[in-house]
Amino acid sequence: MVGDYVVCGGKRLQGTVVIKGAKNAVLPLLAASLLAEDEVVLENCPQLADVENMLSILRQLGCGARRQGDTLLIDTRSANSYEMPEQLSGEIRSSIFLLGPILGRFGQAVCAYPGGCEIGLRPIDLHLSGLRALHADIEESYGKIRCHPAILQGASIHLDYPSVGATENIMMAAVKAIGETTLHNAAKEPEIEDLQNFLNAMGADVHGAGTDTIVIRGVTRMHGVHYRPIADRIVAGTFLVAAAMTGGDVTVKDICPRHIAAVTAKLLETGCTLKTDADSVRILADGRLRALQRLETLPYPGFPTDMQAQMFALSCITRGTTVISENVFESRYRHAAELVRMGANVTIRDRLAIITGVEYLTGSEVQAADLRGGAALVMAGLAARGTTAVHGARYIDRGYEHLERSLQELGANIIKR
Ligand code: UD1
Repeated sequence: MVGDYVVCGGKRLQGTVVIKGAKNAVLPLLAASLLAEDEVVLENCPQLADVENMLSILRQLGCGARRQGDTLLIDTRSANSYEMPEQLSGEIRSSIFLLGPILGRFGQAVCAYPGGCEIGLRPIDLHLSGLRALHADIEESYGKIRCHPAILQGASIHLDYPSVGATENIMMAAVKAIGETTLHNAAKEPEIEDLQNFLNAMGADVHGAGTDTIVIRGVTRMHGVHYRPIADRIVAGTFLVAAAMTGGDVTVKDICPRHIAAVTAKLLETGCTLKTDADSVRILADGRLRALQRLETLPYPGFPTDMQAQMFALSCITRGTTVISENVFESRYRHAAELVRMGANVTIRDRLAIITGVEYLTGSEVQAADLRGGAALVMAGLAARGTTAVHGARYIDRGYEHLERSLQELGANIIKR
């Protein structure tokens, strides 16, 4: 069989995985670096395509941006452009995060609409209305977003939905605005708190991240910083699910267990044993697990949409029926049809998935269509009887650094080709 990841299922995963910095923390921090007219050093950053693309965008804005192993060094003293390169920013969705910091730095900005996405409509209306509330003068035309020169001013902003990206973008613009901004119904994800800590370490004045009200008092200057982003809670959760699916015994290390509490609570419900330490979680699974009955994705601290696909794969082999409700994104069940090819029993009705566990999945040739859905197919392959080829490794590699190496170290029979 030809595939990008080829997995021979049936091996019990065992051992320890050290988790690196979170992609979803590193990307906004890289964008926020632009606010410091100085050098920023970020430690423990994964080598992923989106991170490298963000570095390229920063370079095209005139910054020095390089990697030394897992450390990123950003020198923004030489930044001289407020225009985002069209092709790169069209490619990665997180380029939209740069709008706030570019505005904060230059008072004006030009960017293309951010890259398309595989998991449904991903509008940016909340980003733009928040920035407009800060007095940004935004014109949308011919696929471009132009922010004409303006002096940003603090405001009281109420988000219709606690969007992670919009919360981050507004925070990054407001730190340099004149006066105070209060952001109501803000997202509460750990990555928001990390961004607050990073901004404050650079001299900003931000409070309340982690709650639904964030208060930002504008400052005139921000300085460089040496910072270590939070660990990737989704990568950690993915390894825990992989261990659960293979009857394994795996410890995820260097993480904050509180950040994955929604995931560990669900894994406990399936009958796994979990042992939590200050900076690690160990999971032990034995035999066939119980179905979850109900799983709803929600903004943090609810169950993360970025773990839905992996839990979906697990539900395909648990005893009983699980009903999943995907409330955050539309079109986030593209892994379902592929899991059915492997023998899963699944019915999809709009945002609901009804999964009745089967005794085992069978190795097949399947296609990854997005990052987390692709990871879920690899997990299914680890647990399946026979060989699974997962095409489209490029999707998976957007969020997992050398996934095959980490899984091999845990005893999996997996190669990438
Ligand atoms: C971030 C994460 C992504 C995760 C998501 C939800 C990064 C780089 N990505 O994405 O991995 O899946 O949070 O936890 O951090 N929405 C609007 N208008 C907007 C913005 C969002 O309607 O202007 C809607 C979206 O369509 C979606 C929902 O809000 O239905 C959640 O999106 P959001 O929280 O903004 O996700 P991202 O920041 O894009």
